[in-house]
Amino acid sequence: MCGIVGYVGQRDVVSVLLKGLTNLEYRGYDSAGIALQDSGDIKVYKSLGKLINLKNELEQRRAEIKQPIAGIGHIRWATHGSPSLVNAHPHSCTCGKLVVVHNGIIENYKELREELSKKGCEFRSQTDTETIAHLVADEYSKTKNLELAVRNSVKKLQGAYAVCVMHKDVPNLIIGARKHAPMLVGVGEGENFIASDTPAIIEYTKRTIYLEDNEIAVVTKDTVKVTDIEGNVVTKKVETLPWEPMALSKLGYKHFMLKEIHEQPDVIRNVLNGKLYDIDEPIALNEVKLDSEILKKLNKIEIIACGTSLHAALVGKYIIEDFAGISVEVEASSEYIYRKTTTDASTLVIGVSQSGETADTITAIKQAKAKGSHVLIITNRPDSNMARLADSLIPVNAGIEVSVAATKSYIAQVISFYLLAMHLAEIKGSIDKSYLKNLKHELIQLPTKIEEVLSNTTTIQECARKFSSYKNFIYIARGVNLASAFEGALKLKEISYINATGYAAGELKHGPIAMLDETMPVLSILIPGGITYEKVLSNSEEAKARNAKLIALTSSNDKNIDVLFDVVLRIPQVSEILSPAITCVPLQLLAYYIAEFLGKDVDQPRNLAKSVTVE
Ligand code: G6P
Repeated sequence: MCGIVGYVGQRDVVSVLLKGLTNLEYRGYDSAGIALQDSGDIKVYKSLGKLINLKNELEQRRAEIKQPIAGIGHIRWATHGSPSLVNAHPHSCTCGKLVVVHNGIIENYKELREELSKKGCEFRSQTDTETIAHLVADEYSKTKNLELAVRNSVKKLQGAYAVCVMHKDVPNLIIGARKHAPMLVGVGEGENFIASDTPAIIEYTKRTIYLEDNEIAVVTKDTVKVTDIEGNVVTKKVETLPWEPMALSKLGYKHFMLKEIHEQPDVIRNVLNGKLYDIDEPIALNEVKLDSEILKKLNKIEIIACGTSLHAALVGKYIIEDFAGISVEVEASSEYIYRKTTTDASTLVIGVSQSGETADTITAIKQAKAKGSHVLIITNRPDSNMARLADSLIPVNAGIEVSVAATKSYIAQVISFYLLAMHLAEIKGSIDKSYLKNLKHELIQLPTKIEEVLSNTTTIQECARKFSSYKNFIYIARGVNLASAFEGALKLKEISYINATGYAAGELKHGPIAMLDETMPVLSILIPGGITYEKVLSNSEEAKARNAKLIALTSSNDKNIDVLFDVVLRIPQVSEILSPAITCVPLQLLAYYIAEFLGKDVDQPRNLAKSVTVE
């Protein structure tokens, strides 16, 4: 979703802003713009579509760009007003002296717009953001103090904002403010940065100050002052980012998605590191800050998440119920927040999120906290808003994920759920010890098995080529792999725009079977040794009888499978209960190669955002 970067200092401002925006590109956007301040003026440059268009625009107008000393930049993902040049940020006040960029949604913008229009402000766009520009300019005209003007203005805003402001009459200064949308300051030597997320600044500094809601940062090249909304100075900690700029490079892979898929064995090793080191030792999950006596009595867990994280939550539900016998409900955050839930102080609420910034999940977590629940957050971003709301925090340590389609963060979430389920089972004494030892052993072996899958993708690539012209797919599975079917189908939809739906295989007969014919391939997940294998096999036979083309994803060596199915994607032997941590990999690869074969924009699929920071 939208991204912000601001810079004040000696470097080439245009390059810093473009680099910062490029590093935020992965979040998804439809237009971009920057405002440059030189000693006498502020100029705005905008373009529709990808950043390359903005670069070209800047190149064409290079002659008019003097020596900028500060600048703010933005990539926009349209919420209010269509993607267009006029709606792209930065937005200016009527006289053009003041510019703003903004992430979030201003809920009372219509009332403010009406008021400001009556005062003579000329609105040019359909955005809520433009209101902020006029509002701050109006306040500035009264006080001639930009900091005070921003403070007075944000007090009038309802909704969510991370906003940056510059004024022609106050050079060498950027003011940032936030509420319900992330914003941070990057601290340098004789230069400072402001951004909505860390990748924007990582090339230049790892020292950051995270703003909290209702805080305002006043940034010059030599100083950073943070105040609360009343103007009281707040002493902030300067933190050091854990990321390396390397994380933002494709390292020779054609796409970030492919690189991130290949990183998964190491991601698993990272997640297990320090938590599962010996099969005879209990899982060391000190991150769960609930007393073991409380955990022993725990009988209700609710997991809230969106998108791919919701699918990891479904795996979590299955295994926590299986290992620890605790009842678990899983719900999409967007549903959870608009109904009367039964969450109470005795419920453990788990929020799962790659970004830690998904607006619906943040709202859901706040609601659960208000009900007195202990909130455990499983996230890839320990520096996120959600992490800061957590009573307990499990960082999944997948490293920065750039591709919009989540892959390595999913596997890291799934593995974290295995550790959590085993930890709960050990505390409750609800699982057979030798069975658990075997599972731990298998978990440690998983990265090597995934490396085996990644080392030979020929069949997956052939399958992708063979099936890339189909318009619809059905993925079926049962039990713990139902979530894998949902996730595999989601991956295909996200990056190839092919309609794919995951179904519980037993539900095929209750409706979806009506759609089956030779135009609708069915992909079946078949893991032998468990309770679902034979069932999914017979559901696949039913599909075959309706002329559907069949793809198997299986660890079975049964030759009959080769006869029944048109293509067989084989994975190494794995117990059914742990298999979601490996079945996801060929499904990610299949989606990847189909999208790549079709020439789609794999890393930045249309209409999608990496981090959905608005409801
Ligand atoms: C967006 C992304 C998905 C992601 C979902 C939830 O829709 O495109 O890949 O699964 O948000 O995001 P989260 O950061 O909360 O896991």
